[in-house]
Amino acid sequence: MYYQTAEPFKIKVVEQIKKSTKRERQQWLKEAGYNAFRLKAEQVYIDCITDSGTSAMSDKQWAAMMIGDESYAGCKSFYNLETSVQDVFGMPYVQPTHQGRAADYIMTRIYAKPKKYAIGNMHFDTFRGNAEVLGALPVDYVVDEGLNSVGNTGYPFKGNIDLNKMQNLINEKGAENISVVIVTVTCNNNGGQPVSMQNLREVSKLAKKYNIPVVIDSARLAENAYFIKTREKGYENKSIKEITREMFSYCETATMSSKKDGLVNIGGLFVTKNKDVFAMANQLAIVHEGFITYGGMSGRDMEALAVGLQEATSEDYLEYRIQQVKYLGDQLLKRNVPIIEPTGGHGVYVDGRRFFENIPQCEFPSQRLVVAMFEEAGVRCVELGACAFGSKDSDGNPIWPALELMRIALPRRVYTNSHLDVIANVCGDIYKNRNSFSGLKLVYEGPITALRHFTAGFELL
Ligand code: F0G
Repeated sequence: MYYQTAEPFKIKVVEQIKKSTKRERQQWLKEAGYNAFRLKAEQVYIDCITDSGTSAMSDKQWAAMMIGDESYAGCKSFYNLETSVQDVFGMPYVQPTHQGRAADYIMTRIYAKPKKYAIGNMHFDTFRGNAEVLGALPVDYVVDEGLNSVGNTGYPFKGNIDLNKMQNLINEKGAENISVVIVTVTCNNNGGQPVSMQNLREVSKLAKKYNIPVVIDSARLAENAYFIKTREKGYENKSIKEITREMFSYCETATMSSKKDGLVNIGGLFVTKNKDVFAMANQLAIVHEGFITYGGMSGRDMEALAVGLQEATSEDYLEYRIQQVKYLGDQLLKRNVPIIEPTGGHGVYVDGRRFFENIPQCEFPSQRLVVAMFEEAGVRCVELGACAFGSKDSDGNPIWPALELMRIALPRRVYTNSHLDVIANVCGDIYKNRNSFSGLKLVYEGPITALRHFTAGFELL
């Protein structure tokens, strides 16, 4: 065991990636309006735009796909998935959906209410979008440490909900005006930061006191469980599944984008303990997704997910996964690149404000870094800052977000540490020359500000 610290797999199938010249990449950037979402994947050398749906599947998952049962109703693949989900979540009722946002939609219809608050640590865009369409009021109550992007204060669970903020809202608005609490594990918007078991327990206790239901958005449930095992006292000797089951003992319902810790390319889940909620979820699934026993997934995709959930909750895999993210973080720190510390579960988040101190937030420093990373090396990352999370007040004046980040998301089981060295080298070199860069001007945004990052166009200043 002492020497056996390498990746817990060997590579059986490979996909070629293409090299390109800087001149080609400059042209492609121009054509894409300096928006990484508008690049063609073929133009990318190392793709870190997301960890979602980009996992490499195992031989066992591919084998399982061959026995997918594509019957419309009651297919065997659903029951295999149901058994695997019950094992990991410890919850009885399972409704598959085509991906996470569909589960979000169903959950929003059931739990969010117009003009009522939905408390979260940091709500993910797809819930926020669904909630806003419904007229609900999503609020982000992550602990203050979760918004600190400077240095490492040693705080291990920067995804926790601030219980005081939660209690104050209850006191101020009345419990009847709060329809749901949603805890996202890990917290995607501030670095893939984990939520502790203690926080889940206390949030659940406080919510129960006022009869407010708790939902867990569990896209990265296994990564969160690994952090609990390695950082929280009392959990070091528990298995990952004992931890996930305890996590879900503190909620009524969970949604999941299985494109993350499900280790598959498509799929989602709505899982609950409440029979009445399940009946309603079934109806909404039939209208929007598909019949109850497939909900927008093919039988083969459900088979792959049933196996993927088991692989993702294996400790060997999680140790490799979390260590790989940390490896990239350490390489960047060695090159003085300002990142969110400690590193979280699914990527490394660079602080755009501290990186480009000479570029104001209205000139999109993190997006400028996305552009530079692609121009220099063909590495594609994603902005989570002024463009993605910026909003406007009722007079149309811009409101800039608290965090200004570039996320380097790591697909699961896809890249080796040599790929990560490329990323660290290019980012380190850009940092050395940081004073020679100027910002960007936003020249196009679509009709919905909350979604503008997907289609925005920029010009170099
Ligand atoms: N919840 C969280 C926490 C997510 O990170 C995502 C997706 C979703 C829900 C929606 O799931 O994509 O399957 O519909 N996050 C991706 C990302 C897109 O890049 O972080 P989906």
